Formats: sequence, C-alpha cells, structure tokens
Amino acid sequence: METIIENELVRELANKHGRTRESLIPILQDLVVHNRFLSRQDMVDVARELDISAADVFGTATFYSFLDTEVRGKYVIRICKTISCAMKGKNDILSTIEEILKVKMGETTPDRKFSLLEANCIGWCHKAPAMLINDTPYTELTPRKVTEILREYIKK
Ligand code: FES
Repeated sequence: METIIENELVRELANKHGRTRESLIPILQDLVVHNRFLSRQDMVDVARELDISAADVFGTATFYSFLDTEVRGKYVIRICKTISCAMKGKNDILSTIEEILKVKMGETTPDRKFSLLEANCIGWCHKAPAMLINDTPYTELTPRKVTEILREYIKK
C-alpha cells in the first residue's frame, strides 16, 4: 500500500489561502518566502492539495520569475531590466554588483548568500534605476550607492 507523507506546510498554506485555483499563486508565493524556492515535491503536493494538475502548477511557477524553481541565495537581488531603468544606467549598477559579488547575472555566490537575477519593472520607474533585495526596494541607484548597500548585506 502506498504511504502518503503529508506535506504539513502545503496543507497549512492551503488551509490559509483556500483550495481553489485562485489560491495557487498565494500558496506558491508563501512557499518561496518560506523555502526560498519551489521544489518539485512541493509543487506536486500543491497540485494534490488543490486537486489540479501538476502541469498547471509547474506552468504557473515557471511563468512567473518571482516564483523560483531553483535554490537561491539568502539574499535575492533583482535588477530591473525594463526601459526606464535601462536608460538610467542599470548596466553600470549590474556590473558593479557583478564585480563586488564575483557572480554573473543568474548566478548564486558559492556560499549561497546572494543570487543575482533580472526582473521586469518593479514599479519604481520614477526613481530608476531600481532593484529589490528580497522584498526591499532600492532606488535611484548609482555604483557608489549600490556598493554601500551591498557592503551592509555582506556584513549581515
Ligand atoms: S522600469 Fe525599472 S522599475 Fe520600472
């Protein structure tokens, strides 16, 4: 007989957000907050809990860049790549970060402290260029400002 090991966290989140199709994204978002990424097993468990197909869950998770399906660092840096930020010097910000952390876009530092990712507009275009570190926005960035911000995170 097959033994089903309950995924307590998924169950808890389904209790919190509900078990309709509309609950899917809030549940996946909370899983990312909790685990820092979505594991395949969690996605399968969410599908079972919501009684939807695993393909639906995988499709949703891989469509939204904020729903990470890979293990990320403790601090996920997302640099806005959209036009206002691009025109206001996003490339200089990016190269400064790459230089300080010794990683390229899309990579995670070997100590798993930082991941560097691109994002579409994060809603701070009027204060471009902008980035997020986890949920905290940083705006009107300059290479100097971003260096100071990163130094603080490196010390943490
Ligand atoms: S274009 Fe970068 S925050 Fe909107």
